[in-house]
Amino acid sequence: MPPRQEGRRERASAENAPHRHRQIAESFGSDAQRYDRARPRYPGALVERIVAASPGPDVLDAGCGTGIAARQFQAAGCRVLGVDPDARMAGLARQSGVEVEVATFEAWDPAGRAFDAVIAAQAWHWVDPVAGAAKAAAVLRPAGRLAVFWNAFQPPPDLGEAFAEVYRRVQPGLPFNPWARPALDAYLMMCGAAADGIRQAGAFGEPEQWQFGWDHSYTRYGWLEQVPTFGGLSQIPPAKLEELLTGIGAAIDAMGGSFTAHYITVAATAARTAPPDP
Ligand SMILES: C[S@@+](CC[C@H](N)C(=O)[O-])C[C@H]1O[C@@H](n2cnc3c(N)ncnc32)[C@H](O)[C@@H]1O
Repeated sequence: MPPRQEGRRERASAENAPHRHRQIAESFGSDAQRYDRARPRYPGALVERIVAASPGPDVLDAGCGTGIAARQFQAAGCRVLGVDPDARMAGLARQSGVEVEVATFEAWDPAGRAFDAVIAAQAWHWVDPVAGAAKAAAVLRPAGRLAVFWNAFQPPPDLGEAFAEVYRRVQPGLPFNPWARPALDAYLMMCGAAADGIRQAGAFGEPEQWQFGWDHSYTRYGWLEQVPTFGGLSQIPPAKLEELLTGIGAAIDAMGGSFTAHYITVAATAARTAPPDP
């Protein structure tokens, strides 16, 4: 492909990057209670590895939401400060004992504070990957760790195909069909974008990718409870959402009413290099 076209395609995909869709990025609080109940937690092995690879216990959670990951880091002995632009998500996090400041990570004022780790759980794609990495570098102590991670959900293949079919049937114009291709591919792309942003910040060692596999069993109810929390679904008309849930429920019923999903949690991570001597 000629370089000019390539450049145009890259620009188009940068313009369409998730963090530019602010209406979706800041929509998760439309049902924060449901979000907190239904969304999966993160593997303990990931939390332990980040804590072990950080020089101390002060953690900043960028896009902390209702505090799901923050509470896991607190339980591992860390002091956690959350930052999130959605006051509804922040309010619920505070109720559960997480201190939160309301701002986008890019615009947040660190006011001279420093941290041993900056984490982002299922949130870094809503942050500008270059400005975000630069902000993380500015608040991390030397050898401090930036670790951004996502849970990639993989239903049994037959069920994944049935989910994709329901989405196609109910709402051909949905912002995107999450089942049209393996979720892991999309999250590995996000890891790649995060790693590029980390490199561009110029203040970190070479980024690494970590992966953790685990299984989780869902009942029909447990899965349907989670579906409306997916980015973008709070924007579709309620009748369409109902139709989607009915179709997904029927697909799970056809599999016997429950299923086991395989998750791969993928992380992009790097350590802050020491700033040069003044
Ligand atoms: C999918 S939720 C993840 C919440 C939480 N980290 C978790 O693991 O459950 C994404 C969160 O990122 C927040 N967010 C969106 N844009 C952001 C930004 N620019 N800076 C920081 N957080 C952002 C949203 O408000 C939302 O709470």
